[in-house]
Amino acid sequence: MANRLTAINELVDNARALVEHPKGILAADESSPTLTKRFTALGIESNEQSRRAWRETLVSTPGLPAFVSGAILYDETFNQRTFTSDEAFPDYLARLGLLCGIKVDTGAKPLAGTDGELVTEGLDNLGPRLERYYDKGARFAKWRAVLRIDVGQPSPICIASNAHALARYARLCQEFGLVPIVEPEVLMEGTHDLDTNIAVTRTVLTAVFEQLRSFDVTLTGMILKPSMVTPGDAGPAATPEEIAQATIACYRDTVPASVAGIALLSGGQSDEAATTNLAAMHAMDPLPWPLTFSFGRALQDTPLKVWASSGQDRELTQASLMSRVVDTAAALEPRDLV
Ligand code: 13P
Repeated sequence: MANRLTAINELVDNARALVEHPKGILAADESSPTLTKRFTALGIESNEQSRRAWRETLVSTPGLPAFVSGAILYDETFNQRTFTSDEAFPDYLARLGLLCGIKVDTGAKPLAGTDGELVTEGLDNLGPRLERYYDKGARFAKWRAVLRIDVGQPSPICIASNAHALARYARLCQEFGLVPIVEPEVLMEGTHDLDTNIAVTRTVLTAVFEQLRSFDVTLTGMILKPSMVTPGDAGPAATPEEIAQATIACYRDTVPASVAGIALLSGGQSDEAATTNLAAMHAMDPLPWPLTFSFGRALQDTPLKVWASSGQDRELTQASLMSRVVDTAAALEPRDLV
């Protein structure tokens, strides 16, 4: 009993630390194929060494831990050692004061019985994998489900399958001492309007929390990582205030106040849109949950361009990341928008 209580206390403490104001999470967990695409687009050669150098440049940015509580790594990086100090990445992060996260899903795969929809896989053998990750220093994990909006989509079976997998993953994470980041991403691609996304996001989040409850997931020891509720990228535009209102209304109706926090993904929005929309949400403070960022592209895209164009200059790249991080953390302050 004492052990179980201690374990839950550790989970809750780590979950709280991840969203502690004014900090967010750096999502640097792109799979190697995804990072290779980003590198190739900028003329950077992608191999284990270049990917390691990029990730080390990011996490070693001076001052980062003031605004970033943790970094999510991909398995390759998790098992690498740093160039500069020859430490395992999880140990290096811990020394810097960053919690170490790990992407544990194995990607979105075609879901039989649907018209090209996807279900995220990775449950096979997940328990022993989580145990190893914890032993090597991971304290939180991430699993991303993707749901596309189209005619008749996401289908009920796609929503149900992804919600079920997310809940099984979350429960297992907690049993092995890792804070689960539960990431149901409603994709931005499409011609849909804001109202359509409001309806889809409500349905998806409702299904996810029903499943989390069925698996008795401790909500105070988990973090939700949803997409912002926006119109499709080829749909009718909406203002940051409209997006913020739609997003917060959706979450208020579906996300229990007891979750440790909500850490938003950026989803392919521009740096400016992601940060402005987050600021517009904080203009609606007080909110029932800590609300922060867990951006990938909206933190990394600009520094990656700097890294590519400067011949991988460490200082310039880190200054660029720091500037994105400071701007994004500033969006967490309650404010009146002008
Ligand atoms: P983006 O912020 O680029 O959407 O990435 C977040 C993430 O973790 C995707 O799984």
